[in-house]
Amino acid sequence: MSVLKLTSVTKEYALGERRVRALDAVDFELGEREVVGLLGPSGSGKTTLLTIAGALQRATSGTVEVAGREIQGYSERQLGKLRRNNIGFIFQSYNLLAALTALENVQYMLELKGFRGKHAKERAMGILEMLGMGHRANELPKRLSGGEQQRVAVARAFASGGDLILADEPTANLDHERAIELTKLLRALSRDLAIPVLMVTHDFRSSQFADRLFWLEDGHLKPIAHEDVAKMIPTG
Ligand SMILES: Nc1ncnc2c1ncn2[C@@H]1O[C@H](COP(=O)(O)OP(=O)(O)OP(=O)(O)O)[C@@H](O)[C@H]1O
Ligand SMILES: [Mg+2]
Repeated sequence: MSVLKLTSVTKEYALGERRVRALDAVDFELGEREVVGLLGPSGSGKTTLLTIAGALQRATSGTVEVAGREIQGYSERQLGKLRRNNIGFIFQSYNLLAALTALENVQYMLELKGFRGKHAKERAMGILEMLGMGHRANELPKRLSGGEQQRVAVARAFASGGDLILADEPTANLDHERAIELTKLLRALSRDLAIPVLMVTHDFRSSQFADRLFWLEDGHLKPIAHEDVAKMIPTG
């Protein structure tokens, strides 16, 4: 079964008199336990695709199914509920709450999703430990490195146990080694917890650790082989 299915999705933005077609008849399916990397030039529609998949905005035409439910006809309220209950988001800027510790950041998200006190705390701690962050759980974000903050953001997304995770350039602020590490972690967690990940990335190296890769250009989406992306990795 696919957790996310886009069928002939087109998105146009109004730009003054003109209309920009950011996505042009995109078909895409995300399976149950996979990490899919989405690559492509700047302005090619990657974030647009992610926000439509994440019910943050609506497609101009086409259909979007999340966990088997077609969301086209959903009200704003239903979309909000879907985002809260079914979809985890990871952004380039980690968006951690500065006043809360690593543990509390994860726990807070779980509480928003209906997990109660002790249970939320245990679950949050469990995921932080899976990410090798158990010993940093009680630190405030400002005392964590960029890579550590990003792992807290990843823990927060996975802890909520939704149907899928959407990540927009989660490795953008990390060096190559950390970017690869994070992508491998995403893949391991995705398999362990059976939550698939769709991840936008500019990092050709770390994208090699995704299960499948897609290339988006001028709003057109097509699969691309790992070898073909590997050829684009700058040498030296
Ligand atoms: N809210 C908006 N209103 C008008 N045009 C937009 C809007 N958002 C994006 N666009 C345009 O749609 C196209 C795709 O933008 P998008 O942000 O999806 O690209 P991207 O692939 O994520 O780029 P980047 O790699 O730079 O993040 C671009 O031409 C952009 O200018
Ligand atoms: Mg973008």
